Amino acid sequence: MNNTRVRVAITRAVSPRIAECELSYIARQPIDFARAAAQHDAYERLLASLGCEIVHVAAAPDMPDSVFVEDAAVVLDDVAIITRPGAQSRRGEVDSVADVLQRYRPLFRVAEPATLDGGDVLVIGQRLHIGVSQRTNVEAVEQLNAIPINFQDCLHLKSAATQIDDETLLLNPRWVDARQFPDLNCIAVDPAEPFGANALRLDDVVLFSASYPRTRKLLESRGYRVEVVDVSELEKAEAGLTCCSLVAEN
Ligand code: GLY
Repeated sequence: MNNTRVRVAITRAVSPRIAECELSYIARQPIDFARAAAQHDAYERLLASLGCEIVHVAAAPDMPDSVFVEDAAVVLDDVAIITRPGAQSRRGEVDSVADVLQRYRPLFRVAEPATLDGGDVLVIGQRLHIGVSQRTNVEAVEQLNAIPINFQDCLHLKSAATQIDDETLLLNPRWVDARQFPDLNCIAVDPAEPFGANALRLDDVVLFSASYPRTRKLLESRGYRVEVVDVSELEKAEAGLTCCSLVAEN
């Protein structure tokens, strides 16, 4: 019997219209599409080097934020939740993501009046922690029987906090109060790097943005294996490392 598990990372190509993306808490600046696409390629190569099979969702060149597939779904062990993004401009992204995810999981769709961005969902053990934000409302929290989390001054909960091992969150304490996670240890980002809390954990590896070297050093000093990738052009679209993939174990 073959018990080998396959880890799939679902991604989508960067839209040539990425410079028209939604922005909420950061100022618009020019985005170099070719550079963003090259950085996205490097991100995919890093995921592949760590054992992920890269599976592409159909490109959506007319949807500026479509590279950020994390917001369209939440992948759990036994089901994939298909979201209803809070930004009207992003609602059209979900069906093509669902088309891919249905190969791997039964689907559950969040229903109106709920709005939910996957970037607001932190899965800790078996529980969903959902940040209530300008994109995600309490109806989504209720439909998913989740734990509501309050945060401020950033787009998504996972801009403010991500899990880096079974017991530990990396977070920006100015944006989210660690006391909302009483069962976890918390490591604070370097105060000079407020956006540094968005890390992508794959087992014992932490994928981390090259933009936050102080926080990276902090993690390394704590013994984490950190793999760095430059996503600075994508970060201009108010995105982080987790936003660019959906990881499913199969
Ligand atoms: N640009 C990412 C978002 O606002 O959804």
